[in-house]
Amino acid sequence: MSTTAPMSASPPMPSYVTSKDRVDLQQDSFTREVITGLSQPSKSIACKFLYDRRGSLLFDQICDLPEYYPTRTELGIMRHHAQEMSTCIGSHAVLLELGSGSSLKTRLLLDQLHHPLAYLPVDISRTHLMASAEKLQREYPSLAVHPIVADFTKPISLPDQYVNRPLSIYFPGSTIGNLLPHEASSLLANCQRLGGCRGKLLIGFDLQKDVGLLERAYNDSRGVTAEFNLNLLHRINRESEANFRVHRFRHVAQFNAQANRIEISIESRCDQSVQISGHEIRFESGERIHTEYSHKYTVPGFCQMALDAGLRMQKVWVDEQSLFAVMLLNTHENEGDHS
Ligand code: TRP
Repeated sequence: MSTTAPMSASPPMPSYVTSKDRVDLQQDSFTREVITGLSQPSKSIACKFLYDRRGSLLFDQICDLPEYYPTRTELGIMRHHAQEMSTCIGSHAVLLELGSGSSLKTRLLLDQLHHPLAYLPVDISRTHLMASAEKLQREYPSLAVHPIVADFTKPISLPDQYVNRPLSIYFPGSTIGNLLPHEASSLLANCQRLGGCRGKLLIGFDLQKDVGLLERAYNDSRGVTAEFNLNLLHRINRESEANFRVHRFRHVAQFNAQANRIEISIESRCDQSVQISGHEIRFESGERIHTEYSHKYTVPGFCQMALDAGLRMQKVWVDEQSLFAVMLLNTHENEGDHS
């Protein structure tokens, strides 16, 4: 890879609260969201809370499990086809990645791109984003790296110099599968707007397949996935003054064939009650806390959802066993407003 663009340093962020205050504020809102989620008739906790320090380490272990095929398969697709993908994307791309770009997949793509102008990683976690952007900048000294702190499920505002330019958006990791169908559609519509005319979206998603294979990927024999899911209760105990007895709960992951998704939850093994920051939460035996959905698509089904959002397929790469897909889409040209 070679680049000609100058390096751009990101401006220091304004700081209104001390870092101690910030930690307290984050914990308050974590506790509030947890209590709200557990006070609904059907209990749930947002999947973003699974990824504290220990959760992130456990998720890395999940990615290495023999049963968990998605990460390995997507990497294989990138290794085999990044060169062709880069040719399709074209030279002088401004690459915007949804996610912090700490992954090997990003490097596989960057290494093949012809004279990329800039790389803009977007992530909600400032600390994680800055650390991985700095690391990437060291590895690619002539690439303009411009991190953007934002929630990518909402519209993103770009630095001035990239407004009204065609963008190539990269969204690896089948994260789109963790969104509900209407959220996935609006994310695609945001990508179409953000990409501008002649914009591109390169996106990874997991495919429908044998139910046994799917359920084993989320119920591994070593129990790492169970530990990852139940780690959420340990986190609540630690950060929200709670007293979950974790062994009285179990990890559940089942395929819902109507909705084409793996449904992940934490199930109470008995009637019990738990205190969280002075709030009492009751559980009946068998009652579940929903933690994550992982939707599985077909290539034609995904194409249609993208088309409805104003994105047309250019090419799709699938592994030999049809486990996983990486699709390149174009924003419509001259076809009016799809917002
Ligand atoms: N995004 C991953 C997926 O859908 C996350 C994941 C894998 C996960 N295993 C899990 C989330 C178990 C909760 C519990 O494949």
